[in-house]
Amino acid sequence: MMWFDTHCHLFDERFQEDLDAVVARARAAGVRHFVVPGVDVQTSEAAIALAERFEGVYAAVGVHPESLADYRPRMLEEIRRLAAHPKVVAIGEIGLDYYWDVAPREVQREVFVAQLDLARETGLPVVVHNRDATEDVVRLIETEAQGVTGVMHCFTGDLDTAMRCIRCGFFISYGGPLTFKNAEAVREAAARIPAEALVVETDSPYLSPHPLRGKRNEPERVRIVGERLAEIRGLTAQEMADLTTRNALRLFTRVRV
Ligand code: NI
Repeated sequence: MMWFDTHCHLFDERFQEDLDAVVARARAAGVRHFVVPGVDVQTSEAAIALAERFEGVYAAVGVHPESLADYRPRMLEEIRRLAAHPKVVAIGEIGLDYYWDVAPREVQREVFVAQLDLARETGLPVVVHNRDATEDVVRLIETEAQGVTGVMHCFTGDLDTAMRCIRCGFFISYGGPLTFKNAEAVREAAARIPAEALVVETDSPYLSPHPLRGKRNEPERVRIVGERLAEIRGLTAQEMADLTTRNALRLFTRVRV
């Protein structure tokens, strides 16, 4: 069985002690590919360093809306430079966060659009973060992301929102929240999304799936998410692993098989 964890922050300090063991456990569970998205310039560099160190690990580079407290346009020049690395497969994670509101919403939108432009220019897909900003995120994808594909990371929205993104060429990524006890609405949407748009992730070290909710998450558990999604869709785990890996390879076209 071959899984693809499309979103794991392996540079997080919680992996400092035992990253080799974490990666080994994931590989033993069949996780063959990992995309590590940075959240600012420093962590984007750290993601690239991990991609250089581990086979099957790839980086995404970008400035996350929670990293905009001291935003300078020069940061995007750094991201542009990092994007040229051969193991960088996406611009991310980028998007809008109206929950934490670390920076004015206008600044968030401006930096999001600038990174959509950067994705178009570099030919890379985007990894999109959305918290409490669905209407603006989807509107900007519909109006400002022509020629850009990407993935809605850790999707918990409804079917209508998913379909608007899919019509723009975007993929829908499910993570731990799909498995949470109170997530019936998330599972209802997940049951109906077109199969060719589905990918899976862990968002490690965050959002560990049920019954390990609250613990440090790690890529090995993408299998738990995938098995739950398989159950919801009436597929075997093997079929879901094949489907989501195939989709992720269509999304991240720079990943070498
Ligand atoms: Ni993330």
